[in-house]
Amino acid sequence: MFRILRETPDDRAEVEFLYDLAFAPGRTALSSYRLRDGVDPVAALSLVARDDYDALAGAIRYWPVRIGGTGAAALLLGPVAVHPTRQGEGLGALLIAESLERAAGLGWSRVVLVGDEPYYRRFGFTREAGRALDYPPPTNPDRLLARALVPGAFDGVAGMVRRWTEDPAG
Ligand SMILES: CC(C)(COP(=O)(O)OP(=O)(O)OC[C@H]1O[C@@H](n2cnc3c(N)ncnc32)[C@H](O)[C@@H]1OP(=O)(O)O)[C@@H](O)C(=O)NCCC(=O)NCCS
Repeated sequence: MFRILRETPDDRAEVEFLYDLAFAPGRTALSSYRLRDGVDPVAALSLVARDDYDALAGAIRYWPVRIGGTGAAALLLGPVAVHPTRQGEGLGALLIAESLERAAGLGWSRVVLVGDEPYYRRFGFTREAGRALDYPPPTNPDRLLARALVPGAFDGVAGMVRRWTEDPAG
């Protein structure tokens, strides 16, 4: 059994260690990390999964981002990682589904991510939904995926996914 909990400051070092373990070295050089520089993750959507022994088995975080000239607000999903010894047990799916439900409940309407479409399509992410979006290079456009949490949320939304600013035009 896994318990899904909000990430706290005490979890932070363990979560960073898990991300280092799950991702290739140099993960913070990826373009997605430039969208995270100097911006806090969305605390209500930063979740950890702990097993019966309280060991960290998985974690997910989201960052707020803006899109294009209008500065439409969106969530950037990730990083999400499951400990290598716990992969394939449905924990990734649990973390993603639970956090997306919470995101919708908090009023977010758009989610973007850079990842493998064969994995994320089961959660409703498609290239099609993000077709009018650009992402800071170097990013393989085939990996830029999006999902509307509210029908039509991406209608008329186009342009570069950029770092969050309080002012949409900023
Ligand atoms: C991706 C990840 C979070 C999935 O977590 P998980 O708990 O293993 O996933 P689940 O148990 O929910 O789902 C397993 C299924 O997803 C599939 N899957 C996992 N990663 C996949 C990928 N990159 N592309 C396609 N399918 C993938 C598995 O083959 C398995 O398929 P099945 O259901 O047909 O057997 C985990 O494998 C992980 O931490 N990977 C390393 C970090 C990473 O790549 N994060 C995502 C960044 S885009």
